Amino acid sequence: MSGDASTVHTDGIPPDALSKVQEYLEPFHLSVEKLREVSARLRKDLVRGLGKHSHHKAPVKMLPTFVRATPDGTEKGDFLALDLGGTNFRVLHVRVVEEEQKVLKMDSQICAIPKEMMLGPGVQLFDHIAACLNDFLVSQNLKGQTLPLGFTFSFPCEQKEIDKSILIRWTKGFNCSGVEGEDVVKLLKEAIHRRGDYDIGSVAMVNDTVGTMMSCGYRDQSCEIGMIIGTGTNACYMEEIKNVRRVEGEDGRMCINTEWGGFGDDGCLKDIRTEFDVVVDETSINPGIHNFEKMISGMYLGEIVRLLLVRLTENKLLFEGRTSEALLTPDAFETKFMSEIEERDGGLENTQNILTELGLKWDSVDSRIVRLVCNAVSSRSARLCGAALATLANRIRVNRRLDHLKTTVGVDGTVYKKHPNFSEELRATVRLLAPDCDITFLVSEDGSGKGAAMVTAVAQRLAHQTQQQSTNVLVS
Ligand code: BGC
Repeated sequence: MSGDASTVHTDGIPPDALSKVQEYLEPFHLSVEKLREVSARLRKDLVRGLGKHSHHKAPVKMLPTFVRATPDGTEKGDFLALDLGGTNFRVLHVRVVEEEQKVLKMDSQICAIPKEMMLGPGVQLFDHIAACLNDFLVSQNLKGQTLPLGFTFSFPCEQKEIDKSILIRWTKGFNCSGVEGEDVVKLLKEAIHRRGDYDIGSVAMVNDTVGTMMSCGYRDQSCEIGMIIGTGTNACYMEEIKNVRRVEGEDGRMCINTEWGGFGDDGCLKDIRTEFDVVVDETSINPGIHNFEKMISGMYLGEIVRLLLVRLTENKLLFEGRTSEALLTPDAFETKFMSEIEERDGGLENTQNILTELGLKWDSVDSRIVRLVCNAVSSRSARLCGAALATLANRIRVNRRLDHLKTTVGVDGTVYKKHPNFSEELRATVRLLAPDCDITFLVSEDGSGKGAAMVTAVAQRLAHQTQQQSTNVLVS
């Protein structure tokens, strides 16, 4: 499957050097059989996460989201959306237009979150969020209106209600004190009340995967999976309520936030983790947590490549054994370099520019080896993600007792969107591991922000329907 890509990438490397380099890259090449095993392990973990008694210890959390329906196209109105989950925080004003079945972004604003704030007291973070929201409302002339608000908060949360969500743990470089174990909606509302100069309407909390699924779901109503491969990775999907043992009810479905980033946290992926993955985990701010994510997502891929390059240099397989200060600096090799390096046209030239920027003295063989290394790491990421997605699709198909499932996945995240062969390789893996599922991939634009508004809109529609039904009962 990756044969084609690897042949291209090995061109121009002398056989002797190639076989030595391949020894280091071998553990990154997962066979289809291995991927099938990984998928089978995840399948078991999905069940553990859903179980009433087994979920406490389950590494894949399978969190109920209280989203019981995808859009039906009749939703409408104006909403505010907040999006916190990566390096930036965003505020949006979103309009859902029923006639055109469109979610329009009226305007938005990005506020940077300084690194110290990502690691400081939670109160400070939420005060910053409330201040950014205030600036946005002022700039949009919206102060004085109390619009409903969708809050995309892309961290694992135990959702109690649509507007009550307890942070289980921080991921992706955040580690603010006083937030884990607390209701994030409450912390937001308290920060707004501390200011006292504006208010918000009802709040719906959403994970970014759910936002992505819901915003794509307005365009394509068969969208029942949301997937993110960006700074972090995760997916959600529509599960039969009767299988969600922690939620009352037998009929209908509920969206489950799998938090698949935690897959492997019980050691079940030991056989495929390389020594480089172990170092990335041990030197991260949350060792032992989100092992699967650390093999896949944008926050970590560049660092895995850097560690490999350092090792190859130490063993004189690169740069005549001479490193540079930049190469020895953690996180100096950015994940976005991999996309530039693996570009089909111009990739080698990009590689050479990047190596020069990193203060390395390279020759043409070096640049080809670096490209090969990037390819091994990104390819493993795409195939692991493909195996995980295939597991979800197979589960939905079996749940519904179908011989064949046709479904749509809403996808977002820079790794998926920007890397030249990532999506192709992911799809090829899904086709192999879920041959009875026909999956359409819908790339989401601004999904997590617009989707939060969509979840709020669907919640309002359902509340309205319930109200109407009870009025009808009273009238008849
Ligand atoms: C978080 C998820 C999120 C994912 C993608 C992970 O680190 O735990 O909640 O969906 O990143 O942003």
